[in-house]
Amino acid sequence: MLPTTITNEFIKGMPKAELHLHLEGTLEPDLKLALAKKNNIDIGQTTIAEIEKSYQFDSLPSFLAIYYPAMNVLQDEEDFYQLAMAYLEKVKEHNVRYAELFFDPQAHTSRGIPFETVINGYYRAVTESQTLGIETALIMCFLRDMSAESAAETLRQALLYKDKILGIGLDSDEQGNPPGKFKEVFKQGKEAGFHVTMHCDIDQDNSIGNIREALMDIQVERLDHGTNIVEDRELVTYVKEKGIGLTCCPVSNGFVVDDMKGKEILSLLREGVQVTVNSDDPAYFQSYISDDIVALSENYEMTPADVVLLAENSFKISWLEPEKKAGYLQEIVEYVANYQG
Ligand code: ADE
Ligand code: ZN
Repeated sequence: MLPTTITNEFIKGMPKAELHLHLEGTLEPDLKLALAKKNNIDIGQTTIAEIEKSYQFDSLPSFLAIYYPAMNVLQDEEDFYQLAMAYLEKVKEHNVRYAELFFDPQAHTSRGIPFETVINGYYRAVTESQTLGIETALIMCFLRDMSAESAAETLRQALLYKDKILGIGLDSDEQGNPPGKFKEVFKQGKEAGFHVTMHCDIDQDNSIGNIREALMDIQVERLDHGTNIVEDRELVTYVKEKGIGLTCCPVSNGFVVDDMKGKEILSLLREGVQVTVNSDDPAYFQSYISDDIVALSENYEMTPADVVLLAENSFKISWLEPEKKAGYLQEIVEYVANYQG
């Protein structure tokens, strides 16, 4: 039965899909230290406390300035595999049943790690995730602060591993890097059969213009973040009519713009936009998916029915086949029916 009030346990046990998760953002300090030691990389810190102390960011660029250098510890296929498996083992406890996982090949190829090393390591974890009872898929993101030519070259490499990648996305620093810069590469990616999503980060200089480009020119299927649509009724109507999902990350928002954007997330959810809650970079924001929903419920008025709606949306806007979606949605029905809170 639906509980009368939200509890952390109700949130944690709810079957859910994670759709906005950067694998490189799951690099916890303990694994970072272990890989630095194994690969003989000087990361500037030697203890977990020192690493945690270095996590000082209050904007997307200041976060990214810490995030990218840390990836140096990822060197061989096993490292990428281990990183992804560590995340999956953690979110098994959050009853994540399905995850579409972002990865940033250019953050690795640009420092001399072959594309093949990255994809083989991550894909091994995708295959093995079944043993943990979690189904997974990979979304390859282009770094928008790199050139369109670099993105095109990355797509060319990805086509050699077409069966291992479900979709393409766009992340990194949005300032001065609008969706239109990548129009051609997304067109090619779409023609090759990839699903398409894109970050439209919070409160950017031209958030509404960028969201419009992502929706109208690139024809994305989802927006990652994207809550600035509340400023434009036409865009809200558009995403509702087209069934475009939003993958929101309240705790991450709290770090990079000092506002979880819970008001926007919940008002969009309640007016029928297919909003979901996700963790973005959980090792850096110290918040795995259920913690994000808990944080939202602790800071804003929320009901157990909102929690159910978020979970339903997470499967509905996923890129699973319809029969699989139906199976997971049925799991939610059963979870609620059998819940004794
Ligand atoms: N890469 C990792 N996290 C990101 C975020 N929140 N926005 C853009 N790029 C990212
Ligand atoms: Zn993100």
